[in-house]
Amino acid sequence: MKRVPALFALVFLIATGCAFADAGKPGRAAIASAHKLATDAGFEVLAEGGNAFDAAAAVAAALSVLEPQSSGIGGGGLFLLRRASDGKETMVDARETAPNAVDAKDYVDANGEANRDHSTNGPLSAAIPGEAAGIVWIAQKYGKLPLSKSLAPAIRLARDGFKPDSRFLGELAGRKDVIKRFPASTSLYLVDGEAPKEGWVFKTPDLARVLETIAAQGNDGFYKGEVARTLVDGVRAQGGRWTLDDLAGYQVKERVPLTVDYRGWHIVTAPPPSSGGVALAEILNILGGYDLSKYDRVHQIHLTVEAMRRAYRDRAAYLGDPDFVKMPIAELTSPLYAAGLRASIHPDKATPSDLLPGYMDTQQGTHTSHFSIIDKDGNLASGTQTVNLIFGSGFVVPGTGFVLNDEMDDFALVAGKPNAFGLVGNDNNAPGPRRRPLSSMSPSFVVGNDRIGVIGTPGGSRIITMVLEGILAFVGGEQPEKIVANPRYHHQYLPDVISAEKGAFTPDEIAALEAMGHKVSESERRWGFMNAVSWNSKTGEMHAASDPRGVSGSGEVR
Ligand code: GLY
Repeated sequence: MKRVPALFALVFLIATGCAFADAGKPGRAAIASAHKLATDAGFEVLAEGGNAFDAAAAVAAALSVLEPQSSGIGGGGLFLLRRASDGKETMVDARETAPNAVDAKDYVDANGEANRDHSTNGPLSAAIPGEAAGIVWIAQKYGKLPLSKSLAPAIRLARDGFKPDSRFLGELAGRKDVIKRFPASTSLYLVDGEAPKEGWVFKTPDLARVLETIAAQGNDGFYKGEVARTLVDGVRAQGGRWTLDDLAGYQVKERVPLTVDYRGWHIVTAPPPSSGGVALAEILNILGGYDLSKYDRVHQIHLTVEAMRRAYRDRAAYLGDPDFVKMPIAELTSPLYAAGLRASIHPDKATPSDLLPGYMDTQQGTHTSHFSIIDKDGNLASGTQTVNLIFGSGFVVPGTGFVLNDEMDDFALVAGKPNAFGLVGNDNNAPGPRRRPLSSMSPSFVVGNDRIGVIGTPGGSRIITMVLEGILAFVGGEQPEKIVANPRYHHQYLPDVISAEKGAFTPDEIAALEAMGHKVSESERRWGFMNAVSWNSKTGEMHAASDPRGVSGSGEVR
């Protein structure tokens, strides 16, 4: 009995893999990222003979320079890759790890509550970065060009500078008070102690030097030698617990992506240490039992919300770092489990969340960055990278030119107490030496008979539901330009409310959902910064689109 689903999955993989492999080549490339100059960096290395993986390294490194509020070599990322020549799919896990000397007591105050200052600001909040190792790994293992070529655009941007957009400047102003605590952060990001104004040229010669060292020495340029010593000395001088061994011991992990079959489509997505893939699989498996096109829009929303509610409950209960905790992934992602959850959904009535076991709460985040790439040969890269909250920890080690992450806050620092996104967890996601904190980052591929989509977004705990809505829209025939712009809604179990961007629902839809027992809370704020690309192998059509919510995003086909 146990073998049957695995056998079906294998047959399906082979079937889609063959269709995909036989589909020819796009002949052109599509790149969408959160900054036009990062998208250009990707095309620059493609023009030099690079493939999607060289382009991924170039875009990731360029975003690290252009968007320090969102991601950078002081942070980490999850990079989903598909190599066209042999169909190999992998997730390069460059998530940060807790330092060896991590002490959970650092993050708990005298009342037993989470010490949010320690987990979100300054050196104690910073985990050992994985981004640089991820970039090096992708370029050296999957790319065709030397690292010096993939990193050249980022080095140039750091050295020559660029004019930050209004989003960068606004977010910098919002984080100013924490940045002011640290002299190197102040001199890098502030002008006369204040957030700079539009027109300011942001140069980071120190970061250019670090990137040059990585370009010359690979991993050792960041994780050993002078850069490593500078980082460790700087962190320890401010009370952090990093050691040279932490940096020298950092390892990228390649993970087998999580896959789910949804009504004839094959979704490839992020396994733990992301919670995204498991939650997406649960939701899609539940929804796969309905033909949503046969339901009116209110019932489509109702069923989707009920599926979200159930998947987010499981997130808190089960997930953590796969190298340290045993998780019932096969069970959670099995269609049989989904069938049980589906049976608990009333067709016309909301299930109050407190009738389901577990707990959760939410806030939103505007950190993190996503890029999507298809190259002319059909190689795919979907990368989501982050420093966690805006400008990460706010802490720059003197002489380095980049901000460190505050990813320690993604651990369940006090079991059952919410983090910055209101997400809770238990011991499975407790901080421990060399552990990776649970993430929501969900870089994904959507593979059909003729159409392939590459998709992802930042957005904290809402990443998963945004990616879900993007996948459903793609499966429903929409193109990236519309998908990235669609208004969004979200439910994550507790608080028991559907949060929605203004315009996601009509007044009549809100009234109908409320009559079913849902609470709806509309927000003026807009969420996410989705970047998606697609290729139709039958028509040759390619699309690349960047979320209009972003200021400098760019999606292009060349
Ligand atoms: N730091 C946000 C996430 O990884 O989900």
